[in-house]
Order: sequence, then C-alpha cells, then structure tokens
Amino acid sequence: MTTLGTPLSPSATKVLLLGSGELGKEVIIALQRLGVETIAVDRYPDAPGHQVAHHARTLVMTDPEQLRALIESEQPDLVVPEIEAIATPALETLEAEGKVKVIPTARAARLTMDREGIRRLAAETLGLPTSPYRFCDSLRELQEAIDNGIGYPCVVKPVMSSSGKGQSKIDGPQDVAKAWDYAMAGGRVSHGRIIVEGFIDFDYEITLLTVRAKDAEGHTQTYFCDPIGHLQDKGDYIESWQPHPMSPAALQKAKEIGDAITKNLGGQGLFGVELFVKGDQVWFSEVSPRPHDTGMVTMITQWQNEFELHARAILGLPVDTRLRNPGASAVIYGGVDATGIVFDDVDTALRVPQTEIRLFGKPESFTRRRMGVALAYDTDAQSARARARDAAGKVKPRPAK
Ligand SMILES: Nc1ncnc2c1ncn2[C@@H]1O[C@H](COP(=O)(O)OP(=O)(O)O)[C@@H](O)[C@H]1O
Ligand SMILES: [Mg+2]
Repeated sequence: MTTLGTPLSPSATKVLLLGSGELGKEVIIALQRLGVETIAVDRYPDAPGHQVAHHARTLVMTDPEQLRALIESEQPDLVVPEIEAIATPALETLEAEGKVKVIPTARAARLTMDREGIRRLAAETLGLPTSPYRFCDSLRELQEAIDNGIGYPCVVKPVMSSSGKGQSKIDGPQDVAKAWDYAMAGGRVSHGRIIVEGFIDFDYEITLLTVRAKDAEGHTQTYFCDPIGHLQDKGDYIESWQPHPMSPAALQKAKEIGDAITKNLGGQGLFGVELFVKGDQVWFSEVSPRPHDTGMVTMITQWQNEFELHARAILGLPVDTRLRNPGASAVIYGGVDATGIVFDDVDTALRVPQTEIRLFGKPESFTRRRMGVALAYDTDAQSARARARDAAGKVKPRPAK
C-alpha cells in the first residue's frame, strides 16, 4: 500500500535527490506532481533541480561526513542518487542502520559508481556477454593486457568516470601512451585505474529502459520500454530515438540481460541498460540504476516518461511503459564558455512542427556542456530525428554580453 502525505507538513513524503542536473530536475518535477516533498542536492548552487525542488542544498556529495549529516538532519523517506560521484559506502552504512532507503539499493549505487564493480558483476558473477576487458594500474600493465589478449582496436576508460571523460580508442601501438595519459587526466578521482576493453564492432547500440515496480499483489515485476537507439560522440550522447528496430532474437536477448542485471541490483526504480547489438548478438555494456540521458526522448514518446516511471516505481505505484508515438531527441550544447548565457531564436526552433525544447537552466555554460535538448515526434523515428536535429540547430546560445 502506498500512502502519500502533504508536502511541508508533518505528514510529508520526503525524497532527497543526490545530484540535481537535468535528469534530477525532471524526476523532481514528476515527484512534485504527486505532492512529494523534494530536497535537491548538488555540488554547486542553482543547479537545474535546485530550481524546482522545495529545498535546495549545496554540498560535497563525495564527503561521507557531509552526506551523513545531511541525511540525518533531513530524514527523507527515500534517497535517490542521480549521479555516480557520491560517497556510496556512507549510504550503505546508513541503509544498514535502517536510517534510510536508497534507490534502488545502496549496493547498486556502489557497484555502478565504478566500472569495475558493475563489469565484474555482469561478466564474472552473472555470466553476461561483454566485451573482453582487463583492469590496469599502469601503462606497462595496459600494454601487457593489449598484447596478451585484448588486441587492437580497444577502448580505454578510467574506472571512475562518466560521459566519456578520459575515454579514448586505441587503434595501434602508437596510441597506447596517449590513451593512458588521457585517462589519467580525465578520471574522477586521482587513483589511476583504468579498464581496457576490446572494441565491439556493433551494428547499433541501444538503451533498454528497464523498470522494477510493484504489481497489484505487491510483487516486484520487471517492465521494459521500447529500445532507444542513440548516437555517441566521444562517449557523450548527441542524439537518441525510440523505438529502435531490433530482430526478435536480439530483443529477446536484450530483455534477458536487462532482467538479469536489474534483478541482481534489486530494489525498485528505473534502470538504463546499455547494450551493443550486431545481428542477433547482444553485449552488455553498462547500466545506470536511474534515468538515463538517452532516455530524455521518452519525454515526447511515452505515456509515462522515464522520470515519471522512476518516480512511480520508487513510491510503489504502478507503471505503464508503453510507447505513445515514435520520437527523437537532439542535444543542445552550450557552444560558449560563459555564465548566465542567453538562447537566441527559440521561437524559430519551435516553429519546426511537432517539436518541443527543454532548456535546463544551468548557471554556467561550457562549449561541450549539455544545456538543453530538442524533442520531436513523427510517424517514424528517422523522420523525428531530422526534426529534432533541425530544431536543436536553430537554438543559438551566446554570452549575455
Ligand atoms: N568496448 C567498446 N566497443 C565499442 N564501443 C564502445 C566500447 N565501449 C564504449 N564504447 C562507445 O563509447 C560510448 C561510451 O562508453 P560507456 O562505457 O557507455 O561510457 P560512459 O559511462 O561514459 O557512458 C558507448 O556508448 C559506445 O558508443
Ligand atoms: Mg554509457
């Protein structure tokens, strides 16, 4: 049974978001619509989610002391990690003490915060198909791993990194040292561990949004959204669309992988399962135990978008993962390094029929920072892609002066 309270009163149902970027902002909006009291946390003030929550807090989420003090003083019913860079051992301790419920589980947050935890679980514990891989702590180990099995081409990523940071492809011996240095500069924390993966020559890659939610009997069931296709540039997504066509055999394998990994991570909520596909062959790549950036397309394609699905699932409410219509999203980059920028020609962009725009409200723009997204629907995903790209390209970010 789910009972929801009144925000800002003693009966409030309180949810604390750790990370308040564009994805957290939409989760908060979905929670607000259900009358849930929201506390948005980020490392800098005026983050997108701060602007729509009941309460905004700024702190260093990788600091276990600060994190514990915050959770003990706010006493939320649920803690919802939106990013990977948080002190997950502190969350595990608080969860074990019965002080808080972490979404989907504190263990899932810990395992997915570095590439080693989740890869070992997927490949070694669950036996899911993945690219061949090795973990290395030095340039010498990297060269050895490549020479003894991984081969060329391959991909190097810091174990602690996201959005393609520090990630590069190695085509031959001449690239190895460069890739190592690049990974060392791009990791989230200073210790130098990397994963080297054999390059998978896939036909396409998808995100399979997978939801663990309660059914009418109170049992947790697994639900799947239609596959989302996406295009990545340097490890950062620039376009996504839904549905992406798949052979029945590949779709079946994708669902089996999604089911296995999310069942092991446990709890309730939405997961973004990233998969590579070639013919009928499917490889597990990684998983986010939370809404996924490529899933922003669901804001225009599904009856319940990925943020609403996450909000419903974590509150024990029923979900509906059906597609409403095909659609696409295209990223709007900052294009400039400046604070308080303006966006010209939003009207022109929105004159592209069947489109919508989301501007995230980030206080600071960087050339390659995601500042917004254009969304489009159409009778098929490919036509929607053209519309979304068109609309995104018409928005012109510039310094305010
Ligand atoms: N082993 C691989 N083979 C081929 N492409 C890869 C491989 N690993 C990553 N990529 C490409 O790089 C993108 C980002 O890698 P990913 O592991 O998802 O990192 P991040 O956590 O930064 O999203 C993937 O979506 C895919 O396009
Ligand atoms: Mg990824």
